[in-house]
Formats: sequence, C-alpha cells, structure tokens
Amino acid sequence: MNDKKFYITTPIYYPSGKLHIGHAYCTVATDAMARYKRLSGYDVMFLTGTDEHGQKIEDKAKEAGVTPQQFVDNIVAAPGGVLDLWKLMNISYDRFIRTTDDYHVAAIQKIFKQMYDNGDIYKGSYKGKYCKPCESFWTESQLVDGKCPDCGREVVDAEEEAYFFRASKYADRVRDLLLNTDFLEPRSRVNEMVNNFIDCEGGLQDLCVSRTSFTWGVPVDFDPGHVVYVWLDALFNYMTALGYQNEKYNDVEKFWPADVHFVGKEIVRFHSIYWPAFLMSLNLPLPKKVYGHGWLMLDGGKMGKSTGNVVDPYLLAERYGVDALRFFLLRTFPFGSDGNFTNELLIQTINVDLANDLGNLVSRTTAMVEKYFGGTLPESSGADGTEAAFADSIARVGKGSAAVMSSSTGEFIWTSDLELICEAAGLRRTYEDQMEQFQFQNALDAVFKVVQRANKYIDENAPWALAKDMEANGPRLAHVLYNLLETVRICTVLLTPFMPESCERIFAQIGAGAEARTWDSAARWGVLPAGVSVAKGENLFPRIDMNKELAELEKLQEEAQKAALPAIEIEPQLEEKVDFDTFCKSDFRAVKVKDCQNVKKSDKLLKFTLDDGTGVDRQILSGIAKWYKPEELVGKTLVAIVNLPPRKMMGQESQGMLISAVHTERGEECLHLLMVDDAIPAGAKLC
Ligand code: MSP
Repeated sequence: MNDKKFYITTPIYYPSGKLHIGHAYCTVATDAMARYKRLSGYDVMFLTGTDEHGQKIEDKAKEAGVTPQQFVDNIVAAPGGVLDLWKLMNISYDRFIRTTDDYHVAAIQKIFKQMYDNGDIYKGSYKGKYCKPCESFWTESQLVDGKCPDCGREVVDAEEEAYFFRASKYADRVRDLLLNTDFLEPRSRVNEMVNNFIDCEGGLQDLCVSRTSFTWGVPVDFDPGHVVYVWLDALFNYMTALGYQNEKYNDVEKFWPADVHFVGKEIVRFHSIYWPAFLMSLNLPLPKKVYGHGWLMLDGGKMGKSTGNVVDPYLLAERYGVDALRFFLLRTFPFGSDGNFTNELLIQTINVDLANDLGNLVSRTTAMVEKYFGGTLPESSGADGTEAAFADSIARVGKGSAAVMSSSTGEFIWTSDLELICEAAGLRRTYEDQMEQFQFQNALDAVFKVVQRANKYIDENAPWALAKDMEANGPRLAHVLYNLLETVRICTVLLTPFMPESCERIFAQIGAGAEARTWDSAARWGVLPAGVSVAKGENLFPRIDMNKELAELEKLQEEAQKAALPAIEIEPQLEEKVDFDTFCKSDFRAVKVKDCQNVKKSDKLLKFTLDDGTGVDRQILSGIAKWYKPEELVGKTLVAIVNLPPRKMMGQESQGMLISAVHTERGEECLHLLMVDDAIPAGAKLC
C-alpha cells in the first residue's frame, strides 16, 4: 500500500455563466500539482466540482424561465460548460462534486444539525448589509466606501430571522492558526485576514448561516423555510466528497485532512477563517494548507464574468493548443500574485520558450541524429560509468559537492559535457523544491535554464563541424547527440505535469520508453539506451507571426465578445405620459426624396431635398450617413415631422426631422428610416 498520499482541491465553481480563462487558471495549476504528485509517486485525490445553490442561481434561473436545477444542469453539462472546459484543458480530476448531489445535501443537513446540537449554531435575527453577487453578509464597518469589500459592488440592507454560527468563539484559535503556523500562504495574506476580520473593531463576528428570503439551497430540515448559507454548504464539499456524513464514498480516513486547498484571493477569507472554525466546531482535523493565488487581470481589472471582460479559453486553445495555453498560465505569472493577461504576452511566451527554446532543441537534435546516423545512434554513444556516477552524486547531494567528488575519480570529462550533465542531473532537486512551494513559474524557469544550456551546448560542440570528418569525430558526435537527447528527456519528464500531451510526443520523438519517463529517471543520467532510435515528428510548437496574429486575434476576440452581447436590445418605453392634444400638435407628413447628398466635412450628415406636397422644396439634414448611401434613397417615400423649428447643422438649415426606427444589435446601434408605400402622395398627413 502506498503511504504517500496527497489530497488537493480547487474551489467549486458557480455555474452562473460561461467560464473564462481566469477560472481555468486555478484549475490548471491544481492539475499540474496533482500530476506532479502522481509522477513523484503519490496516491493523489484531486477534487473539483460545482457550487450550485444560492440566490444568484435562483435569480438567473428565473430570468431564463427555467428551474434552478435545470439552469445549473445546463451550465454544468452543456457544450462550453464546466465539464466540457475541464475536458478541453485536460484536467485530470479524480472526483467531481455537485452541491446538488443528494449525498452532499443530506450530509450538509446532518452537519448543520450537529453544529446546532452542540450549541455553535443558534437562532437570531440578521440585520446588516448583503452583497448579492458574492452572497456575502457584511457589517457596516467592513464595507469599503459603502460597497462590498470583495467585489466593490453595491450592497443592500437586509433583515431576517436567521441562524448564526458562533465564529466569535473560535477567534483566538483561528488567529493563532493564521499567525503561528503555515496554514495560510502566501504569508503576505495573513495580516490582511487577521487585521480586517479578527482584530477589527468588534472582533470576529458570528456568521449568518441560514436564509429565508429565497429557497434554492439545502433546507434546514428541523426548521422549514430556512436554507443553509451557501458558503457553509460549499466549504463542506471538501469533506462530503470523501464520504463525510454519507455512504457514497469511504475516503475520509485515507485523504482527510487535505494537503492543500488552492483558492483565489477573494475567497481566502472563507477558507482561512470560517472553514477552520467550522471544522473546530466539529472537532475535525484542519486542512494542512490554504494557498490564495492571485487573479488574472485584463486591462488592469479582475477578469470576471459579471464585468464581461473575459478571455475565452476555447478560442485560445483552438489556435495554440491546450498545452501551450496551460504552459503560458503557469510560466508567465507568479502563482501568488496578480498577473495581467495580454495576447502579446501569450504569443511571446509561446515563441520564446516553446518554439525557439524547447521546440528548436528537440527538432535540431532529432534532425541531427537522423542526418548523421540515419536515426539510430551507435551503441558507443551512451553515458560512461563516470558520467552516470557523477550525475548520480549531483542528483543526490547537489551540484557543489558533486563536482569535487567527480574530480577525485581522476577521469577526464569534456568540460561542456560536465556542465550540461551537472545542470540536467541537478534539475529535479530545484524543480521539486519549487513545486513543493507551489512556485510553478520558478520550477519552469529552472527547466528552461537547462533547455537553454542544451542549445548553447549545440553551438559549443558544433556537430556540423564534427560531421565533416566522421571517421575521426563520429564517436564524439554520437556522444554529443546522446547527451542532448538525455537532457531533453530529463526536461520532458519534468514538463509532463504542465504539458502532458506535448511531452508524450517529445518522448516518442526521442525514443524514450516507459522507464525513461519516470520521476526516478529524471534524477539519473544515461537512462536512454546507447543505441537509441529517434523519430523526428511534426513541429511541436510552430512559431507565430506576432503582428499578424495579434491583429487576427483581436478581431476574433471582438467578434466573440459581440456574440456574447444580447442579440437585440430595444429602448424601454417612456413612463411619462404625453396628453393627446400635445401629441396632435406634431405634424407628420409623407415626403418624397428628390435629391440626397453627403454634407461636406461631415461623416454623419446627409442633406435631403424633399417634396412635401407644398410645391416648395423642403431641406432636412439627418445624421444617418453611417447606415445609408445618398443614391439609394432618391425616389423613396419617407416620414418627416415638419413643424419643428428650423435648426442649423454644419452651417445649413434643417427644416424638420426624418423618422426612423432604432435598436441595438450585439452592442451595435442600428437604424432604419421609416419608408412608406410609394402610392402615398407627397404631403399626405399621417395621423
Ligand atoms: N463557489 C465559490 C467557491 C466555493 S469553494 C468552497 C466561487 N466560485 S467562482 O466560480 O466564483 O470562482 C471560482 C474560482 O475562480 C475562485 O477561486 C476565483 O478566485 C477564481 N477566479 C475567478 N476569476 C478569476 C480570475 N480572473 N483570475 C484568477 N482566478 C479567478 O468563488
């Protein structure tokens, strides 16, 4: 039995709209961590899911004219929904929980009752401020400029009978947990939590944990009309999904406490204050760690579905591949801080790291093995005993001391070989150290330093020069290429958690079998067989033409954003009434267009010469040049209001106004002139 176990979770997502790349960020990070742990021999439980209750979902379902259950079912399972996105992003979760699953609902009822029975939940009356989108209650003193401190939106007054959780009772223990242990990371988030929520004026407030103003939630079974507060319901998913208070699963003993909950920074408060307090109330072990990652920003603001400034992962994955996208997210932004997403940064990362550095290294190396050795290196190419021992000591004790040990053997090793082997064999230690701290960017940085070192090694050893005299230099050339393949192999093993599919392809190209893909093999040198065969494949990461791509991408993203806007929007009707006599004072007439011209120096105005039945031409100027060409209007019968006082526009007089229909289509203003039957004579009164 494997006693190395690892339980990791992502926040469970609100299925209230389309997911965006900001959501994918946390789940991709969790996936990379889970894959890394599996690779290094752990029995992993990776949990994700959906958080499906609450007023926001109830409201949205009502708007859509469906039941809340139908609404969430549709978003979870529909194309473009949560499950679909995780499939696209190659997320290797082990379990998926929905908070509407029967076993979870029943477990939450038991948990709520247990906390009520032990006196930590009591009935009172709630009076305060409520942020609907965040489903959060706030006291007056917690508001920032009178708005929700999490999202900055308006809050509303709320008062109702409610159950409360005695959070105040656990304030000291939670403070101690935050200040004196590594429970919450990055440590920079600790003071904010303690100062704003525990050591604030009035101390840690008891938390309102039931609602009566809506029904879409887990019913409190001993008090009809109350539903459990969505955060209590949601947080316990981390335990019910293991089988806590239910028969569906039986993994609590094996996997609880969780090793780490990855969460976005705005929900650190729930995970680092209330979640441990709930668990303390039930005498349950606390998770080992909560890691609050930063936000993916767009144009300086948080990317979010409620603000509409989102980037579509489907669009990017289709153009650049899922692996490039996964890699970009973890390579570019330090996990604990915010990062500003730009298309330019994405393309640059793909071009520099994947196309230039890694892609080039793999294609140059395999191409040279094919060109100089017909695809199979000679048996003599492999690592010798000294190199393997050297690498082994580096992997075990680190670079500094290993160099001394190796020189003590007195064996001769080529300088550039020694440096390359040293970097490659020492890589796993650095990588592991960074991964254990969730510093994905640093772990990848270490891998790419070795990739760059290998590219330099090619230049230093100039295989093309060696190939000029195969008889003299053939063995050396084979050994150089072998060293390159080994370096690629080690880097690829360590890149697998980030780019699983691409790494499979690289392994196939460099002839790495199962034994050369393991965690163990990443700390050894000389694992590829000496007579290894390569199979040069298609280009793994094609280089992208930055300017051309940026223009195309911008256009596509604009179109996608437009498509997400409502198809048709019309202005609401005016509430204010106009009396009949006033209305009758407006003189509407049919008018025939005799001539129509653009107005000089104006890209908006058209100048109409109209027959209005009086025998004297009428001139009207209208700002409709965006929608009509002058020549297409000549001869048409339109409608004008003719008794408006004349107005000067661009120095010319306009005697009235043409009537048109206006609406908005996918965010774009649309206009149609009102045209009437040509049988209607010019000047006919419309009433
Ligand atoms: N349902 C709660 C979590 C309950 S966990 C017991 C929730 N859901 S959410 O759908 O709004 O957000 C899910 C996760 O996505 C959160 O961790 C949130 O921080 C993250 N992100 C949403 N937008 C994001 C960015 N723009 N950037 C990074 N993460 C983002 O909160």
